[in-house]
Amino acid sequence: MNTILKTSIDKLISHKLLCKEEFVALLNNNSKELRNELAHYAQIAKQKHFGNQIYIRGLIEFTNHCKNDCYYCGIRCSNRQLTRYRLTKENILSCCEEGYSLGFRTFVLQGGEDAYYDDEQMTNIVTSIRNHYPDCAITLSLGERSYESYQKLYNAGANRYLLRHETANSEHYQMLHPTTMTLSNRMDCLNNLKSIGYQVGCGFMVGSPFQTTEMIAEDLLFIQSFKPEMVGIGPYISHKDTPFHDQQNGTLEDTLLLISILRLMRPALLLPATTALGTIASNGREQGILAGANVIMPNLSPIDRREQYSLYDNKIGTGDEAAECIQSLRNHMQNIGHEIVVDRGDYSNLPK
Ligand code: 5AD
Repeated sequence: MNTILKTSIDKLISHKLLCKEEFVALLNNNSKELRNELAHYAQIAKQKHFGNQIYIRGLIEFTNHCKNDCYYCGIRCSNRQLTRYRLTKENILSCCEEGYSLGFRTFVLQGGEDAYYDDEQMTNIVTSIRNHYPDCAITLSLGERSYESYQKLYNAGANRYLLRHETANSEHYQMLHPTTMTLSNRMDCLNNLKSIGYQVGCGFMVGSPFQTTEMIAEDLLFIQSFKPEMVGIGPYISHKDTPFHDQQNGTLEDTLLLISILRLMRPALLLPATTALGTIASNGREQGILAGANVIMPNLSPIDRREQYSLYDNKIGTGDEAAECIQSLRNHMQNIGHEIVVDRGDYSNLPK
C-alpha cells in the first residue's frame, strides 16, 4: 500500500478525522488490502467499547404509505404497483410481544411519511409500547415532522430517532428528491431531534445515483461534525418501479470500507449491518460485522407484509434477517466470534 494511504490510516486511527482529500483518496483506492487493513483496526476499536457483543433491534415496518416521492425509493407515492398497508396499534403491540419473547429490548418503528399516523395516533402507540415494555428502548423512523411532534413523541417515551440525511450535498439531494424536499429541512429535523434529547441516527446510501467520492467525503465530514449516536449506511439497490430503475447498485466493497472508516471515526457508534447489505451479498451482514458494524435489525413485521415494504428490489425478509430465525442468526454470529446480547444497547458512555 502506498505511504500516503498508510499515513491517512494512521491519522484516522489517532485523530479520528481526515480532511476531505484524504477521505477521497481512501475511497478512490478501495482494494482488498485497504479494506482488510481498515477492518482490522475497526475491529480493535469496536472491541474496546463493545467487546464481541452485537445488539439486535426488532424492526417493525408499520406503514408503507408515504407522501414523499423520492426517486430511489420503492414506497414513493407515485408507485401505483404497490399494495399499501397500515398496522394497527394492536398489530404493532403483538409484534413487540413476539419480539420481547425472542430477546429484543429495542423496537424500531419504521414507516413512510403517512399522515394517518398524526401526533395523536403516534403518541398513543408510543405510550402503549412504553407502558407495556418499560425496560425497552423505542426507536422511531418516521421521517420529517415538526419540532412539536418530535417533542410529543419523546415525551410519550421514544428514545431514539433514525433519519438518514441521504446526502450532505444539497445539489445531490435535489437529484434524489423532488423540489418539495430540501437538505436544509432535513438538517433542521436532525438538529431538532438532537436538541430534544433523542439519540439520533443519520446516514446515506452507498453508490446512490450521481454520487461521487467527493460527496461521500462530504457525508463523512458532516457525520464528524454532527456527532450522531447511530449511522445507517447500506448500498443503493434499484427498484423496478422507480425513475431510477436502471441505475447501478452500490457495492458491497464500498459499503464495507465505509463501515470501517465510520467505526474508526466514531469508535462508540451504533452501526448496523443493514438489510440492504444482506440483500446484495448472501453473507453481507456478517461481512458488515467483520468490517466494524455492531448492530443487526431483524424484521419483526408481520410476515405477509414484509414483501410490501419494498424499498428496493429483492429485499430479504425471511432468512436470518427475520426475527423468528434469531437462533440461526446467533449461530452465524458465533461462527464469526460475536455474541448477540439481550440488551437495549444504548450509545456507549465510555470515553470516546
Ligand atoms: N436502496 C437502498 N436503500 C434505500 N432506501 C430507500 N430506498 C432505497 C434503495 N432503493 C433507504 C433510504 C431510507 C431508508 C429507510 O432506506 O436511505 O432513508
